[in-house]
Amino acid sequence: MEAIRAEGLTKVYPRGGTIALSSVDLSIPSGRVFGLIGRNGAGKTTFVRIAATQLMPTSGTLYVLGHEVRHEVSSIRLRIAAVPQESRPLYFVTVDELVYLYLKMRGADSVEARRRTNDVLEELGLTAVRRKLVSRLSGGMRRRAMVAMVLASDAEVVFLDEPTTGLDPLARREVWAAIRRVERERRTVLLTTHYLDEAEALSNRIALLEGGVVRLEGTPAELRARVRRPFRVTVAGGMSREELESFGQVSIVDGGFLVFTTERDARELALKGLSSGAHISMAPVSLEDIFLQVVGHRLEEDAPLEEGTT
Ligand SMILES: Nc1ncnc2c1ncn2[C@@H]1O[C@H](COP(=O)(O)OP(=O)(O)OP(=O)(O)O)[C@@H](O)[C@H]1O
Ligand SMILES: [Mg+2]
Repeated sequence: MEAIRAEGLTKVYPRGGTIALSSVDLSIPSGRVFGLIGRNGAGKTTFVRIAATQLMPTSGTLYVLGHEVRHEVSSIRLRIAAVPQESRPLYFVTVDELVYLYLKMRGADSVEARRRTNDVLEELGLTAVRRKLVSRLSGGMRRRAMVAMVLASDAEVVFLDEPTTGLDPLARREVWAAIRRVERERRTVLLTTHYLDEAEALSNRIALLEGGVVRLEGTPAELRARVRRPFRVTVAGGMSREELESFGQVSIVDGGFLVFTTERDARELALKGLSSGAHISMAPVSLEDIFLQVVGHRLEEDAPLEEGTT
């Protein structure tokens, strides 16, 4: 089952004529976390806002839970919840009220709203500040309160546009756990993030947008499989750049060299490196490596993707 389906989705902002999305086709399965990644200005927020019925597409279609965003806005709105990238919560309520009132507004009864509020505040580490006015919270706390509100809802599709930007590392983990809980409840999460470890840790599938176009889409394993050299080996000491170059693409990193290579060459390189007294570490390429290869053109001269994959 699909939660969201885009067909030829295009958005041109009238002001400035920016083409933010250009004929995007995307299928987002229901009941899982889908990660949308890409550089600043790639079109992520535009996509999320259209799907959350906050913005009209210029052309193409987008279905959310089978309803078309242009004509069936009200059927969609009841079943979704969104934390926008730039969210300004109600300032004159407490954290507790913010969540509770939101749930009541969505139609939960008082008992249910109370239970869900308590649970989510606990889950996101907000219990200690629950009686504080939202206006008196720190920026990160305020962000968490917004995320709490939406993750406490029973919406079938949840949109989180950079939910963990500005959060401390522990708070981020709490949000991750809450997102996983929402997934266990078989609800769909559309997540945008610049933290690629986060996208990888949480997402069942990932799409990489660049200039309003989907450049890559698939499970993290599928994305990795599309890179010609899916292993990263770092080598400190013991071997020269010339020696390393016979194994793959070499770049200089802090304290040594980074080599992108095939699995077989990675093994060989590790054995050779160890016998030369080098410090070696070896891992599959990260989502960040793939990102840099696709949109950063850092490894341009070594065309990392196979023919016809972009
Ligand atoms: N309201 C607007 N009016 C005109 N142009 C806009 C508007 N909102 C976004 N854009 C443009 O559309 C493009 C896509 O922007 P969008 O906000 O979707 O990117 P994003 O991927 O979310 O970026 P970021 O990672 O910085 O949040 C950019 O070129 C941006 O300047
Ligand atoms: Mg954005």
